[in-house]
Amino acid sequence: MDARPIGIFDSGLGGLTAVKEFNRILPAEDVIYFGDTGRVPYGTRSDETILKYVRQDIRFLMSHDIKGIIIACGTASSVALDIVQKEFDIPIIGVVKPAAEAALRATRNKKVGVIGTAGTINSGSYEKILHRLEPTVQTYTQACPMFVPLVENGYLRSEATNIIAKEYLLPLKEKGVDTLILGCTHYPLLYETISAIMGSDVSLIDSGSVTADAVKRDMETAGLLNHGHKSGKNDYYVTDAVEQFEALGSLFLEKEIDGQVEKTNIEEW
Ligand code: DGL
Repeated sequence: MDARPIGIFDSGLGGLTAVKEFNRILPAEDVIYFGDTGRVPYGTRSDETILKYVRQDIRFLMSHDIKGIIIACGTASSVALDIVQKEFDIPIIGVVKPAAEAALRATRNKKVGVIGTAGTINSGSYEKILHRLEPTVQTYTQACPMFVPLVENGYLRSEATNIIAKEYLLPLKEKGVDTLILGCTHYPLLYETISAIMGSDVSLIDSGSVTADAVKRDMETAGLLNHGHKSGKNDYYVTDAVEQFEALGSLFLEKEIDGQVEKTNIEEW
């Protein structure tokens, strides 16, 4: 039993899709969420810059006496996870491995598509792990750089989003993938649009959500769950305007932002 909070971070709002699932399956846990809203997006930046940001994000979260960290960002997980796992003395999990494992459980024809930011797709992180876990799998990847700005500006079901999504997704559909990893934690907000294009027989894997499920299993094994009977609380830290985070964040969480939101200066870390 460990009653300390878990730290969850993302470049901005996307990681809230993991928080939503984490709150649902582990309601007694406290969460400290860090959203780097002042420096989003990470997905278009160099590996060096992403690594610097991720180290700062982890140092900040570790100043809160947390028991573990979820990197709820496809880009940060792809570029920095292996390095920071060696550098910091705390359990850290990213979204890539849990999503790859879930995709391999779901696929029947062993043709798996992956969509993500340019940083995630260029890193090859998903292909590497999918092939390591299942050498016969065929992978097809597509960077979708317009998706994050569309989501962050609230274009969730618009015709413009549909046209852009078709450009990105139809080539994957033509390859016959039966499973598609949403390798960026913003993309579940486009679930309906993506599913309508790919067809109902294609399984969509929500990387943030399946990572929350994997963390629950890991925490159980490691004896890190909070067995207290009170309901957990979420505290949020951001690096840009609090009001903007509260307004858009409720879209990702599918409920009002319930805890306190504070602005912090990440450059100090
Ligand atoms: N949520 C981030 C991810 O999962 C995307 C946003 C960004 O580019 O920073 O990759």
